[in-house]
Amino acid sequence: MGAAMRQRSLHLPKVIGHRGAGRHAPENTLAAFRMAARLGLHWVEFDVRLSSDGIPVLFHDRTLQRTTNGRGALADRDYASLRRLDAGGWFGPAFRGERIPSLKEAIRTLDKLGLGANIEIKPEEGRAAETGRAVLAILRNHWPVEKPRPLISSFDWSALATIAAEAPGWPLGLLMTRPHRDWQAWASRVRAAAIHCGARGLDRRGVVALKRPGLPLVLYTVNGTGRARQLFAWGADSLISDVPDRLSAAA
Ligand code: G3P
Ligand code: MG
Repeated sequence: MGAAMRQRSLHLPKVIGHRGAGRHAPENTLAAFRMAARLGLHWVEFDVRLSSDGIPVLFHDRTLQRTTNGRGALADRDYASLRRLDAGGWFGPAFRGERIPSLKEAIRTLDKLGLGANIEIKPEEGRAAETGRAVLAILRNHWPVEKPRPLISSFDWSALATIAAEAPGWPLGLLMTRPHRDWQAWASRVRAAAIHCGARGLDRRGVVALKRPGLPLVLYTVNGTGRARQLFAWGADSLISDVPDRLSAAA
């Protein structure tokens, strides 16, 4: 399939909620998805890691302390023990009792809410292929067949390469904090459907260069409306934001 075909099948919204709904609800929780839907968003971005027993769960940090009442590395805990943690109380009392969602559970909630997704895979060192496969297995079994497929991105390009090799039909986003010298080669290698890049420091030339392969360009994390307008004018297709409601008004 050519780049243009992949681009047409993606239908990216102009604004995507970062970690769900960014500043409005605890990140990477089902409450954040409900908030995103209430804000009128069409897509959310969220992070996926593996528990020690190989279950894909929604979580950003390597360690538990910032966004739960637990401590230590998430990857050292099994799913049952992760589920006992509170992942909402740190954000505010109204969210006390929110759990770390499994990817399977998240897919069900996204479906109920009518939300699309950018699933960002965050593998532990040395577990890229395993993490890619675990995410893929859940998607194959649980992503609704009639629903447009999620965009799967990762800073770990070998996780994307595993998915590209085993399941070429799932759209992949090549994710980087800033343009990396090898990015175009990797975009071809994983047959990327989109390019994802940090927006910090990007100028017009940078945006134009990132658009060169003719793929949709997703930039993160953009919270200012003036900056959003500028990036759209330069050619960005979609912005990931902590304040997606504010940006939607500018889109
Ligand atoms: O996927 C874009 C963005 O979420 C990457 O950064 O650290 O917020 O996951 P981070
Ligand atoms: Mg992320």
